[in-house]
Amino acid sequence: MRATRRLAGAADVPEAARLLREGGLVAFPTETVYGLGALALDPLAARSIYAAKGRPATNPLIVHLLSALEARALVTAWPEIAQRLADRFWPGPLTLVLPRASLVPDEVTAGGTTVALRAPRHPLARALLAEVGAPLAAPSANRSEHVSPTTAAHVLKDLDGRIDAVLDGGPCDLGIESTVLSLAPGGPRLLRAGSIGLADLEAICGPIVLGPAPGAVIAASPGLQARHYAPAGIVRLAAGADVALACSALRPSRVGALLHQAAAPAGVVTARLPAEPAGYARGLYSALRDLEDQACDAIVVEAVPQGAAWDAIRDRLQRAAGSSVLDPAARPG
Ligand code: TXA
Ligand code: MG
Repeated sequence: MRATRRLAGAADVPEAARLLREGGLVAFPTETVYGLGALALDPLAARSIYAAKGRPATNPLIVHLLSALEARALVTAWPEIAQRLADRFWPGPLTLVLPRASLVPDEVTAGGTTVALRAPRHPLARALLAEVGAPLAAPSANRSEHVSPTTAAHVLKDLDGRIDAVLDGGPCDLGIESTVLSLAPGGPRLLRAGSIGLADLEAICGPIVLGPAPGAVIAASPGLQARHYAPAGIVRLAAGADVALACSALRPSRVGALLHQAAAPAGVVTARLPAEPAGYARGLYSALRDLEDQACDAIVVEAVPQGAAWDAIRDRLQRAAGSSVLDPAARPG
């Protein structure tokens, strides 16, 4: 058990950086979700991330840094296409997977041959990276398999007593995790959808294959597993017209409904999100956590529209609903 300190804003960046330089664990805001940071090039610091989250050692971490220049030091190849993507989308919500240099510890790559790199654009994340003066490994700051955190309160709910501090920067702007693109040999592959869409990426780097290379070990990209980003409980997707029916089918559970257009069925705990993708993404994880906090053990999610602007959201909802009953052993602690 550690005493978890609440730090806030730019004034506390030096203290957060001091804790990190000593090998500690500090959660910090990014434009996507809160990350759980530790020195990326210190194997023991990186290892402690797995213990705090209850994360399987087979799931590699994203290394956060300030620029393409810093990224180049951590890879054995920096293709021109990586430079073009970084020029266009960094700092921002794009993670690039490239062949790792040997100075990146196995604890970060989960023993694999590649490393995931991202330059976040959140001002506090950048101030923290600058003050630490070294790259930070940071997965989302939730207990393994739980919904990612978009506020400092979400981080504390999952990790209070398990990390040294959380740096509060208010709610995250985008609300869902970065787009993950592999540039390992064999051509670009989309490993995780995010707010930077496929068409915007393809405009820079040409055709992208969806999903990992055939035969790739699934554990190397656990974000692709069917069940992920999940609240504790049952999650069902239903078309707007079927929401009421889906809710009544789930009784006598305490049912919650996550809606953006459909009318609220009677007797159901309801959360409502904006009917446009940016606002929906921003509020999604908070809404799922709110329904969970209100003891909903089943959640009906009104299906979102088809269309590329909703791709990343549809991906997260499908994962949340990936299995109708969550293994109780996997419930967040
Ligand atoms: O927006 C984000 O990406 C947030 C913020 C904190 O930056 N981070 C985040 O980290 O979502 P995490 O660990 O929750 O998700 C990282 C995803 C996982 O699906 C992981 O398997 C994948 O990236 N990943 C990391 N390193 C990889 C690698 N070398 N090859 C393939 N996938 C990798
Ligand atoms: Mg995560």
